Amino acid sequence: METWKSVAAKAVVIVAIFVLIVDGWNHPSRNSSKKVKYHVRRLRKDFRQLKKQEGAIKLVGGRRPFEGNVEILHDAKWGCVCDDEWDHLEATVVCRQLGFEGAIQATGNSRFGIARRRFWMDNMFCDGREDYLGMCRFDGWGNSDCESSEAAGVICTHDKEEDLPSRSISTRRIKIKERHPRLQTRLTGGRNPSEGRVEIKFPDQDWKLVCGDGWSLLEAGVICRQLNLGYASDAIQMTFHSDKKEFIGISGIQCHGNEHHITECLHDTSIQCPGARGNVASVVCKRDMADLVIDHIELMRTAHLEDRPLFWLQCAMEENCVASEAYRIQKESADWTRETRRLLKFTARILNAGTADFRPSVPKHLWEWHMCHMHYHSMEVFATFDIIDSSGKRIAEGHKASFCLEDNLCMPGVKPRYKCANYGDQGISVNCTDIYRYNIDCQWIDISELEAGHYTLKVAVNPEFKIGEMSFENNAAKCQLLYTESQAFVYDCIIGRP
Ligand SMILES: *[C@@H]1O[C@H](CO)[C@@H](O)[C@H](O)[C@H]1NC(C)=O
Repeated sequence: METWKSVAAKAVVIVAIFVLIVDGWNHPSRNSSKKVKYHVRRLRKDFRQLKKQEGAIKLVGGRRPFEGNVEILHDAKWGCVCDDEWDHLEATVVCRQLGFEGAIQATGNSRFGIARRRFWMDNMFCDGREDYLGMCRFDGWGNSDCESSEAAGVICTHDKEEDLPSRSISTRRIKIKERHPRLQTRLTGGRNPSEGRVEIKFPDQDWKLVCGDGWSLLEAGVICRQLNLGYASDAIQMTFHSDKKEFIGISGIQCHGNEHHITECLHDTSIQCPGARGNVASVVCKRDMADLVIDHIELMRTAHLEDRPLFWLQCAMEENCVASEAYRIQKESADWTRETRRLLKFTARILNAGTADFRPSVPKHLWEWHMCHMHYHSMEVFATFDIIDSSGKRIAEGHKASFCLEDNLCMPGVKPRYKCANYGDQGISVNCTDIYRYNIDCQWIDISELEAGHYTLKVAVNPEFKIGEMSFENNAAKCQLLYTESQAFVYDCIIGRP
């Protein structure tokens, strides 16, 4: 692919030659300096035009040049990127394409303001080495089921000097209680007392609203807990119209999710609400809620290695279940179907130990039909499988699984209700388990490029916190993985947060 830089460079040369020729014709002329100015102006304009190259990206809504939501140019129109599947690998590609060394963080939930343009990209899969975001795999231009509160963004690595001192103070995030220990909280404008816009009050001030940027189920969950309203089933960024000039009282609230009071969470020391005017935070709280627990005992019991020729993995390749090296082999080797991949297989058994059913976030008419596996996927990222080295770096390209959710095995006395077959309703009932046996396609991590050694295996469900649960602290199993050239041992699992 020709980069816009090389195209632009060619254009510079062509226009420069053109300027010389035109200048030559008219020479000697008193107008020549005027003409040169004219051509330089033209050149600048063309240059700007050329920069609007397919696949160009920019960051919007950030306070500093190295951060923001990502927008990409396609078909001469800018569009957003959805935060499903968005992680460090994608952020790294974005930052490098923009000329930064790397990424500090991949952000989601429209951290830098709600999306004001169409979503061009969804379900990104980069291996981290691509030169351009457009080179990564994704669902196809404009194929997206994302909402405006799901814009993906990045914070890129940068020199300290860029952190202008006058600004860095205003963008620092500190615990709310350090400044406002006596902050009050309430909900207003809902259909019932368990939902509504979040309002906060500093002593001696009016009630004010909360900036919606970055608002997620983690923050919403703390509000529901603090107000004794149960658990958060929805975290909504909504537009609020007000005549009052300063109706937003706080921004950048960021919680871990298990805090008992919102004052334990971080916030911006000065209000920064870059999204659409009037984007405010709302919640829906519920008493009954699902709670997924991953069965780490079954995981340890079933983990093992298997070598498979790529011939048998063609469906899996369509669903992004193998490492990117496999796609390279497919592209470059005529005999690729005979190459083998080494897979670490295991059973993922997931129990709903809550008091309400776990239901997919995407409505039925938007479910994706997977031709290869002949079923619908109702939730794009239901689980992630990762292998992490001792320094905390994700190595073997993990993968993100979008399952078909159903009741496979229930406790005595509970009738299974959700079934994938025949476009059935998907979900996991209370006290039922959804089982993905190790012999199911895609139920593995492709470790063909992994070197022998000690690692951490992490299997997490609902990892992006897109669906409400009682707790996210039991959604991941983190296990020891010992990989020799011939065997894999998974042991000492602990349950934690994704
Ligand atoms: C689920 O199981 C728990 C204990 O195992 C029980 O207390 C609860 O009533 C069950 N819930 C349903 C809906 O069956």
